[in-house]
Amino acid sequence: MVTDHIVKLRDAREVLKEMSFETRELQRGYANRVLRIDITKNTVEFLPVTEEMKNLWTGGRGFDLWLMFKEINRNTKWDSPENPICFSGGPLGGTISFPGSGKTLVTTISPLTDSVMDCNVGGYFGPYFKFLGFDALCIVGKADDYIIIVIDGVNNKISIEKAPLESNDSHVISEELTSMYADNELDMRNIAVVSSGRAAEYARMGILNFSFWDWRRGIARMKQAGRGGIGTVFRNKKMKALVVKSLPLNPAWRVVESKMAKTFTDNICTSHCKTDRERICKIIDKWNSNPEYILEMMQDIQKMERYISKTAIDEICKKTGMSKGQLYHIATFYKDFTLKPAGEKVIQVCFGTACHVKGASKLLETLEKELGIKNGETTSDEKFTLEAVPCLGYCSIAPVIKIGEEIIGNVRLKDVSKIISERRGK
Ligand code: FES
Repeated sequence: MVTDHIVKLRDAREVLKEMSFETRELQRGYANRVLRIDITKNTVEFLPVTEEMKNLWTGGRGFDLWLMFKEINRNTKWDSPENPICFSGGPLGGTISFPGSGKTLVTTISPLTDSVMDCNVGGYFGPYFKFLGFDALCIVGKADDYIIIVIDGVNNKISIEKAPLESNDSHVISEELTSMYADNELDMRNIAVVSSGRAAEYARMGILNFSFWDWRRGIARMKQAGRGGIGTVFRNKKMKALVVKSLPLNPAWRVVESKMAKTFTDNICTSHCKTDRERICKIIDKWNSNPEYILEMMQDIQKMERYISKTAIDEICKKTGMSKGQLYHIATFYKDFTLKPAGEKVIQVCFGTACHVKGASKLLETLEKELGIKNGETTSDEKFTLEAVPCLGYCSIAPVIKIGEEIIGNVRLKDVSKIISERRGK
């Protein structure tokens, strides 16, 4: 939070350039603009993303290389002012729909090879930058003294500032700047800092660190663009850090995802939700409607209702401010959650190696016949749900099934009927 130290850092800043910008909604994955910042001339420009760029280069590494091609000439070296550092996610950047879509591609001429080098990196910078409505960032030039670039999506300002007192160490400056720009503790997650430490000035292999705020540990953690000495180029340009502050609640993608989630929900959850709205709300209140405890909330609801109903999604969305898209992502990602009501008892059939060689497939088939349902389904009386699972950890008594909390080993096919009828009555 804002301590005397942070106030001192802020007071020592000198704004060299400030410019307003509007955030922008994405259209089919593109914001249709590139941010170009020249730190020699202190200029900020918005360049259009053309149809040709999209068709030929798609985004990410493609956009970076296209921008480099426009900026460099045959004599450009890694430490030439015109050598750009380009950052771009792809058209899927910042969605939470595909693995790897949070990555950013960073490109520059490498001090190690004197040729173009790209590197991909995680952290929050890429998605946050996209949420503000930019497809790529191109930084060119070289500052006279150490500077920081701030892209503030809340106050809609881009600034280039002299930063004489900020730390020269990545992990320290990331925490300093996260504290400086966050309005409160929760807001710290909306800040991403890109930086490189002082060692990068003495070695050609300097890396670039991309921070993300780990709220559990209360520290800024980092991902690295580690290839090719990109950090060395960053420091050579006299850049101390690049900060992006994201919109906290409503990035463009979430709007689209919520629309998709509605279609999805209507197909899955029908009007006969037998849910108890009041009890769901009590659970959400128990966790102070705090999105940080979303998993705990959903686990409690799953336990109570045996599934995550449409009503539950609606109430969580209303009370926590989270988007439906996010909630459905969570509900479908973790095996703990189901979107259809599960039976009173879940019968798990182990398909680990030991159980497999002892006839797990035959056992599942027999259970399917006995219950009149297929793997993954629930009986019409909602007594049992049947599912095949990986090793249950009781390999010495394979084949194994688990009914509710009860482990049953050495199961013989001829015993299946008896096992089920006994549990049906319980
Ligand atoms: S393989 Fe079935 S319990 Fe381990």
